[in-house]
Amino acid sequence: IIEMASGSAALSVVAVAMAAALLALCGSTEAHTQFGAYNKTCPQAEDIVFKEMTAVVAKSPGLAGSLLRLFSVDCFVGGCEGSILLDSTTNNTAEKDSPLNKGLRGYDVIDSIKAKLEAACPGVVSCADVLALAARDSVRITKGPYIPVPTGREDGNRSSAADVTPNTPKPDASITGLITFFGKFNLTAKDLAVLSGAHTIGKAHCSAFSTRLYNFTASNNISDPTLDANYTATLRGQCAAGDLATLVDLDPNSGTTFDLGYYRGVAASMGLLSTDGALLLNEDTRAYVTCQANATAPAEFFADFAASFINMSKIGVLSHHKGQIRRHCSAVNPLSASSQAPVTMGAHAAVLLASSFVSIVALALVL
Ligand code: HEM
Repeated sequence: IIEMASGSAALSVVAVAMAAALLALCGSTEAHTQFGAYNKTCPQAEDIVFKEMTAVVAKSPGLAGSLLRLFSVDCFVGGCEGSILLDSTTNNTAEKDSPLNKGLRGYDVIDSIKAKLEAACPGVVSCADVLALAARDSVRITKGPYIPVPTGREDGNRSSAADVTPNTPKPDASITGLITFFGKFNLTAKDLAVLSGAHTIGKAHCSAFSTRLYNFTASNNISDPTLDANYTATLRGQCAAGDLATLVDLDPNSGTTFDLGYYRGVAASMGLLSTDGALLLNEDTRAYVTCQANATAPAEFFADFAASFINMSKIGVLSHHKGQIRRHCSAVNPLSASSQAPVTMGAHAAVLLASSFVSIVALALVL
């Protein structure tokens, strides 16, 4: 009887230990990314992305900005889970086909990098991570900072054009509206000032700012008085009234180099978008713009940008098999293909599984 009692007590202890271990393993809802998540499963992944991006930007410098923007749009609409890359289907209009996203470029670059990764390590690297890595490489290649972006994101299955408008700041958003918008994603006013610095590279269509040039008020041909007059004249030269398609550098000083030119432009009333100029209308964001505009070196901006980029890269991340590793970035995996993310066991999970194993051995010995 005593032997049986001690046996069942041991059984209870072991059962509780196993349950706790498994609950900790399966019940965690925290999304998990880490720096170098592919170090073991696809060690060459980050090198492949960097090599491809270097070649792409050497050929088409404008694509650096496009890839950086693509990542931010992905993160703000439904999280950094690659939904912007999905094509529409007969039953679904995807995010990329929202009228607000018509100007996005660079999908083919992601598809071709993904093809290289699939050839090297089939089914391992998510499209969400390809996008995150391509964006951070865009910054590095244009002479900005190297950003140690965590990886291990999984890909989502949902992409709906209806999600775009509520998750895209309006072109004429006020500074308060922008701060509130960023706040929804746990990003601060400083993150807003810092991430807007991404506009140091890339271009905008005339359509994105033409109301500032021609019909800012009800009476025709009145321009935005907060825009520098000479800059307005230059922009009118680049974007004739009614021209919505021409592309103009967001940073009037140095549009292909990741530097302080954007802040110098904004501080001098030459922020191209109304939302760039709006940074001057809040004490904190204005202080950041002024500080960087007057800085002699970009070190502080670079460190801040790396930190804010990583903050943004954590929005709505899928992990723990809540997503999948898409084989092609433009379509969810067919049901027949493995739609599960491969098990990439972190040290934490390994310890928990090992403790379960020890518990089972102990149970066997007791019995
Ligand atoms: C504050 C909120 C933001 C607003 C309102 C905004 C708005 C815009 C708009 C309207 C364009 C021009 C699109 C076009 O005409 O094709 C643009 C371009 C761009 N945005 Fe933003 N953006 C914001 C935040 C960001 C963030 C957080 C990033 C990245 C970290 C970013 C990176 C870029 C880049 C690099 C471009 C140039 C794209 C290209 O050359 O193809 N933006 N943005």
